[in-house]
Amino acid sequence: MEKVKVCMLGFGGIARSHLSAYRQLEAQGAPVQLVGICDIDESQFGKAQATNLGAGTGPDLSGINLYTEDEKMIAAEKPDVVDICLPSFLHEEYSVKMMRLGCNVLCEKPMSLDSDSCKRMIAASEETGKKLMIGQCLRFEPSYLYLKELVDSGRYGKVRHAFFDRLSALPLWGFEKWFQDTARSGGCVTDMHIHDVDMIRFLFGEPKEVSCVSTEDVTKWQVVNSRFDYGNGTMIFALGSWDEAKTTKFRFSFRVRFDEAQVFSDGKKVTVYPDEGEVFEAELESKNRMAEEILCLCKAVLGEAVSDRISAYEAAKTVALVEKLRDSADNNGQVISC
Ligand SMILES: NC(=O)c1ccc[n+]([C@@H]2O[C@H](COP(=O)([O-])OP(=O)(O)OC[C@H]3O[C@@H](n4cnc5c(N)ncnc54)[C@H](O)[C@@H]3O)[C@@H](O)[C@H]2O)c1
Repeated sequence: MEKVKVCMLGFGGIARSHLSAYRQLEAQGAPVQLVGICDIDESQFGKAQATNLGAGTGPDLSGINLYTEDEKMIAAEKPDVVDICLPSFLHEEYSVKMMRLGCNVLCEKPMSLDSDSCKRMIAASEETGKKLMIGQCLRFEPSYLYLKELVDSGRYGKVRHAFFDRLSALPLWGFEKWFQDTARSGGCVTDMHIHDVDMIRFLFGEPKEVSCVSTEDVTKWQVVNSRFDYGNGTMIFALGSWDEAKTTKFRFSFRVRFDEAQVFSDGKKVTVYPDEGEVFEAELESKNRMAEEILCLCKAVLGEAVSDRISAYEAAKTVALVEKLRDSADNNGQVISC
């Protein structure tokens, strides 16, 4: 079977989750092979990297060639795909560079820090003919896909209101403290809250108006409270925080009120509370969202028809909506039309 050769660029916090996804895909016999990893900091290859997901363990990199120079890796491995796990302020530079070197690109979220940068990335993809997908991984997360099915099918009627949250201590682990620098991370709104902004677009489409209030401490937009008005009586709210106590664990949840039921998720399970009938726990597919996003691009490279749900065009629209939230927050929560 033909396998898509992948190289990973950046081996910090999130790359460890990507590595597990490749190991899982390879064990399942998927048409994917991780052949090389590059990080400018060689010590990353031996480190058990702690993140807001936990302490981490030493990575098993057997069978993978390791590099500290990206061009050397591309010349030696000639990958079909480069999986970019670099800090967000480097996403544009390296996505464009890798597409110009002839590789298809899977780039971590956020696509980039602003819309103009996203446009340049899309232009490079169109110019080179190389595929560019963005790891808005919740679009493959079973709990959110269950919710999407309820929204799309109208099984419990229309959504009246919904709340999404995603809460973490300030990320302290990153390369040269990039998370703590608003110019390089875009603060919580651009880095972490973007997951919920993207999910709200995925579930409900484009809002008519948005507003946002935020606090500023180490970064701008460090705690953000956003409101999405759909103009039809449906109101959606989202809370993002990078100001939780260091001793807390990263957590996220949603709570959605349909006409005839309420649906809660604590980030692990989804519970349905119908207005009439028995409360029940939803049966969720057991799928790894990172493995699914990798497989999506690899199948596209092999010429299979795949969902466009993690296309660069979609991700760029989410960054544009985040920009509106930032504008609103900078103007005391001013309501902004979309
Ligand atoms: N999908 C998710 O749920 C999720 C979760 C966490 C982070 N992320 C995103 O993943 C990206 C990376 O985050 P992270 O936590 O892994 O950051 P990190 O700082 O831990 O890792 C970045 C790595 O890139 C390396 N690096 C820096 N410049 C380089 C270069 N020029 N060439 C090669 N290597 C270089 C660093 O040495 C470091 O090891 C960010 O965009 C972040 O927003 C996504």
